Amino acid sequence: MEIQQDLRSHIRFYFEGQLRILSDVRTTDMLMRWLRSEAMRTGTKEGCNEGDCGACTCIVGHLNESGVIQFRLINTCIYPLSYLDGAWLISVETLSSCGSLASVQSEMLPLNLSQCGFCTPGFVMAVLYAQISQKDQTSEEALAGNLCRCTGYGGLIEAARRAQSLPIEPAFTAEIQKAEKILRDLPADGFSIVAEGSRVDAPKSLKHLLDLRNSFPSATIVSGATDFGLWVTKKLDRPEHIILTKFCIELTSISSGPDVIETGAAVSIEDFGDSLIPEYPELREWFHRFGGPQVRCSGTLGGNIANGSPIGDSSPVLIALGASLKIRSYRAERFIPIEDFFIEYGKQDLRPDEVLVSVLVPRRKNIKRLVVEKISKRHDQDISIVLAAMAEFSSGAPRYRLAFGGMAATPMLAKRTMESLDPNDLAHDFSPLSDHRADAWYRLSVSKNLVHDFLSGSASDG
Ligand SMILES: Cc1cc2nc3c(=O)[nH]c(=O)nc-3n(C[C@H](O)[C@H](O)[C@H](O)COP(=O)(O)OP(=O)(O)OC[C@H]3O[C@@H](n4cnc5c(N)ncnc54)[C@H](O)[C@@H]3O)c2cc1C
Ligand code: FES
Ligand code: FES
Repeated sequence: MEIQQDLRSHIRFYFEGQLRILSDVRTTDMLMRWLRSEAMRTGTKEGCNEGDCGACTCIVGHLNESGVIQFRLINTCIYPLSYLDGAWLISVETLSSCGSLASVQSEMLPLNLSQCGFCTPGFVMAVLYAQISQKDQTSEEALAGNLCRCTGYGGLIEAARRAQSLPIEPAFTAEIQKAEKILRDLPADGFSIVAEGSRVDAPKSLKHLLDLRNSFPSATIVSGATDFGLWVTKKLDRPEHIILTKFCIELTSISSGPDVIETGAAVSIEDFGDSLIPEYPELREWFHRFGGPQVRCSGTLGGNIANGSPIGDSSPVLIALGASLKIRSYRAERFIPIEDFFIEYGKQDLRPDEVLVSVLVPRRKNIKRLVVEKISKRHDQDISIVLAAMAEFSSGAPRYRLAFGGMAATPMLAKRTMESLDPNDLAHDFSPLSDHRADAWYRLSVSKNLVHDFLSGSASDG
């Protein structure tokens, strides 16, 4: 085994008309700190510093496989600075750098949607993303990752509604073309930045990733960093070595075969949703209630599974669909049904030299009905109290797969209920916890109702 030695020791990105090069990037550096304290661009605000409020929202553009910029809305407070490599960074200052306001800003101005103004730059970026990404989403969905504490949301929602039909102005189109040209000329290699007490590795290939994993089993794998970012900003973790997955080509691709859709573990929740919803339209609402656009654009499918959370939203859905995981080490590859990955709370079937490579979701074929219900205190950007994913199959056994998050120490199937088809048997399948989100009685009662509605056919799909 060989570790590549000849890698770049800096990152390069495009910002305000220039190619920037940074060589002192550390494991704990988040983009917001660099923007506000080094680039002195203080339009981007610091609110919660944990991905919840959207005050720090910016947009990054990375080249896709066709060499075209694909935009992402991000929370800079938990976005590792190292992920800017090969990207175009757009902050609120970038928009008016030509002297005049961008069209979304001009549309927002007369709507009286700002009092103290602290949240406004973040909303401007979310509205701009709604304009340039042209996603199939409502205005409310476009703004679900941004909070305003003093103005009503009416004007903001109206601004997002108008933005979705605003053409992109010629000056911005010209800037996109310029950024694409500059980014295309950058060699597509990985990097490794070593400083005292800090090492950031960004492998481009799965082989290099596995070599690193094997040589440094205690290094932290970082994918979208929507968990990792909070360990740094809130728990004040200071990891000495991180290995980034998002530059690794094999982990960031999606391929559709006749039997399965294979999604790389470092594919964002946003791209996973876009690829799966045409096959399973019932997942549309589930998808839009997963965090907000910023969390979905950064957070990855693999991270949401590998963290082993009992309240992660993708695992119950994948269990109900009968998905499996591809796991690899330097030496071997193996496939397991996703439900077998979760052994107990905090313990997953993943050895220190292994990484989660991809998730294989069966094509629709045999699935007749799918219902996913997320129960949470808030509609948007909230963690599940219970997530029920229930599938009915047209043939084979079992006829139903009923998977739950929030009911046990891991996401799991309600096996006894699947056999008996009696919702009361959920009390044998699960002994849920009481916590600050809900008590055990509530979790059990709501789950029984959901299963009852599903089995009696009165639950609405979606
Ligand atoms: C504001 C906010 C809202 C949120 N809302 C939701 C929500 O509605 N629903 C929900 O389910 N979650 C939600 N989350 C949680 C979070 O977004 C997810 O858990 C996310 O999908 C984690 O993925 P990541 O790529 O960001 O993981 P990271 O933070 O990069 O990593 C998470 C863990 O997984 C490990 N890991 C990552 N990739 C691999 C791999 N390929 N192989 C092995 N190990 C790996 C890492 O080492 C780490 O231990 C929210 C988070 C925030 C901050
Ligand atoms: S500061 Fe609140 S999301 Fe970043
Ligand atoms: S205008 Fe004050 S927080 Fe939104």
